Amino acid sequence: MSETTAAESAIIEPGEVTFRRLTYGDLPAVLSIERRSFPAPWSLAMFVLEVSKPSGVCLAATAGDGIVGYLVCSRYADVFHLMNVAVDPDRRRLGIAERMVERMLLEAGREERFTLEVRVSNHGAIAMYEKLGFRRAGRRRRYYSDNGEDAMIMWLGEPWL
Ligand SMILES: CC(C)(COP(=O)(O)OP(=O)(O)OC[C@H]1O[C@@H](n2cnc3c(N)ncnc32)[C@H](O)[C@@H]1OP(=O)(O)O)[C@@H](O)C(=O)NCCC(=O)NCCS
Repeated sequence: MSETTAAESAIIEPGEVTFRRLTYGDLPAVLSIERRSFPAPWSLAMFVLEVSKPSGVCLAATAGDGIVGYLVCSRYADVFHLMNVAVDPDRRRLGIAERMVERMLLEAGREERFTLEVRVSNHGAIAMYEKLGFRRAGRRRRYYSDNGEDAMIMWLGEPWL
């Protein structure tokens, strides 16, 4: 009988991950990932507000019976804003976020326009968005109040500047 180490058991195939609508019951697990993913994490109230909006797309990525990632996308007028995406630090670089954003684009409608802000230092996330077709469209100066960092504005579809 072979022994499985903790590191090996953390490895999952992308096919084992499934996507579904995010629910209020997912939020404790979401907050746990959120707090390990961002220097200025969202509060529970912020997630509750977004999940309660009928016009947005909020997704959970699950493996087994656990949450391994989530995405929050809100609709304002005729533009979708990708507000939050994160994957469990132990499950990164497995294609989970890429597939989750693709699923969101499918649910919202490929013909729609999408925008987001991302820290200019977040090269991994920027590379992912560019791989998915988002394009850079300027900066918001000192957008992040925790460290005064600029945000990169990105668009998929025609920018509304
Ligand atoms: C950004 C984040 C969501 C990516 O999740 P992920 O599941 O690891 O990403 P994927 O495996 O789907 O990566 C898809 C592509 O994005 C790019 N990418 C993702 N992470 C990267 C990194 N650390 N460095 C360079 N490129 C990266 C690559 O092009 C990758 O494709 P490849 O693996 O074929 O090269 C994850 O790193 C995360 O949760 N970070 C903390 C929260 C965050 O910064 N969210 C974005 C805020 S705007």
